[in-house]
Amino acid sequence: MKKWKKRAVIELIVLAVLVVLMSWYLFMGRRITGADDKVVSGDEETHSLVVYFSREGVVSGGVDAVSPASLNSNPYEAISDTETVAKMIQQLTGADLFHIRTDRYYRSAFWGTAATAWIEEALNLRPKLAAKPESLDKYDVIYIGYPIWWFTAPMAVGTFLEGYDLTGKTVVPFCTSTDSGIDVSMDYIREVSGSATVLDGYRVHNSGLEDVSAWLERIGMLEQTDEQQDIEVGLTKSEADIADAALKSGECPDVTEGTETYRNFVIDNVYHSADAGDIHYNVYIPESYDGSRPYALYFTLPGYEGLYFQGVAANIKSEEFGFEAQKYNDEMIIVAPQLNDWGETSADQTIALLEYFLEEYNIDRSKVYGNGFSGGGETMSIVMGKRPDLFTAYLQVSSQWDGAYEPVAEQRLPVYFAIGRNDEYYGAEPTQRAYDTLRALYEKQGLSDDEMDKLLVLDIKKHDYFTERNMSNEHGGGGLFAYDEEIMGWLFSDERGAAVQEGR
Ligand SMILES: Cc1cc2nc3c(=O)[nH]c(=O)nc-3n(C[C@H](O)[C@H](O)[C@H](O)COP(=O)(O)O)c2cc1C
Repeated sequence: MKKWKKRAVIELIVLAVLVVLMSWYLFMGRRITGADDKVVSGDEETHSLVVYFSREGVVSGGVDAVSPASLNSNPYEAISDTETVAKMIQQLTGADLFHIRTDRYYRSAFWGTAATAWIEEALNLRPKLAAKPESLDKYDVIYIGYPIWWFTAPMAVGTFLEGYDLTGKTVVPFCTSTDSGIDVSMDYIREVSGSATVLDGYRVHNSGLEDVSAWLERIGMLEQTDEQQDIEVGLTKSEADIADAALKSGECPDVTEGTETYRNFVIDNVYHSADAGDIHYNVYIPESYDGSRPYALYFTLPGYEGLYFQGVAANIKSEEFGFEAQKYNDEMIIVAPQLNDWGETSADQTIALLEYFLEEYNIDRSKVYGNGFSGGGETMSIVMGKRPDLFTAYLQVSSQWDGAYEPVAEQRLPVYFAIGRNDEYYGAEPTQRAYDTLRALYEKQGLSDDEMDKLLVLDIKKHDYFTERNMSNEHGGGGLFAYDEEIMGWLFSDERGAAVQEGR
């Protein structure tokens, strides 16, 4: 044999040995023993099965190097992201549960699993499973969960789903991943689900039980019992009974209650007003409220970031007025409407919603407060111009007055104007003008300076006020007024202008 031929043969043999060793390493991990074809039983009557795939033997006893365990509240919990979600779904729906296990372990080193998964995906392989239920006949709904691997679902998911005739069944995909959305895997899932109906998938990331529950409700897989709904919206048993009775008698106020909470606010409630249309709002109702005693009521309107199209609860997620207010009166219902503009429509919606609360809840009419920040201040000033009789006091924050003045002066509604001297958006001049206009109207009524000072406060803050609180922007810094005890204390004070008001 020629020398070069001999060398080529040796090289080929070395290459073949390497390929065999590599294949052995990638595909001949230890066999998984003890896998069971039995499902974990859920509710007796269930026709749903939660199936999930997650590689075995990696997370146990510690955090998987590639799986941030982002969904687990305890990062050292010995279950995977996908398993966590699968168990949430099982807990919420009462479905049966099954863990898809491959015949052999994937390598615990990330690159080992990654290489195996990549080859499986590239060659569209179907890894052998250690066990699977004999039949899925009893199920109508199959939830299928998996981590995203190489921008699709792991091939073992295909092995499982293709192993059954899924005609007439509904497949509900869910996934976990670091970045990828579930869309990347949907073509594959549809392909391996045969003639089943496949719903749009849901990626669960940094989410908790509440998010999973909200998703299941959205897709109609979870119906809340009346009792669950009552608990979530903070209704006491007696209130719930009254609401149920109203519902039965056809007198139920037209409200769709929110199903999620954020820092004790029930978010995304909708009041379907006959005159003002659908009005979205978030509401905090103290646990102690049972309707037997009158409570104060506070309406807070947000700046631009908090309008409804900015996202559900964007208002209370970006401003603290609704939370700081709780420190001044623990018997106060707080409503944070999420409207869609700063003009007339939103003002009318605010009034309609306020009237709804005054009607439906036991409210102390001498304690109805309002505030508006930035654009919300414009809206709220229109509200005050239209219905000052509904309020006890109003705080206008970093804004301008767009409403009528005369009704406010006639009503002698106490108003506090707070703004930065160099507010980047409005400047302080419009606020000064609004204050002067109301003061002039009070002068006409013959009020003394002392009386006017009880009804009107003009608080123009110097730049230092903001910089001392680590805020360079005066307009955005209006949010700091929520923490200012002098300002908030004025709004919720019992004294203020009541005496002057009575003299009108
Ligand atoms: C082999 C492999 C490939 C992965 N590919 C992706 C990917 O393409 N996109 C992504 O966002 N995450 C990817 N990940 C991250 C996992 O999807 C993510 O960590 C997931 O939450 C793990 O779930 P588990 O704990 O149930 O295994 C990959 C992880 C592995 C192990």
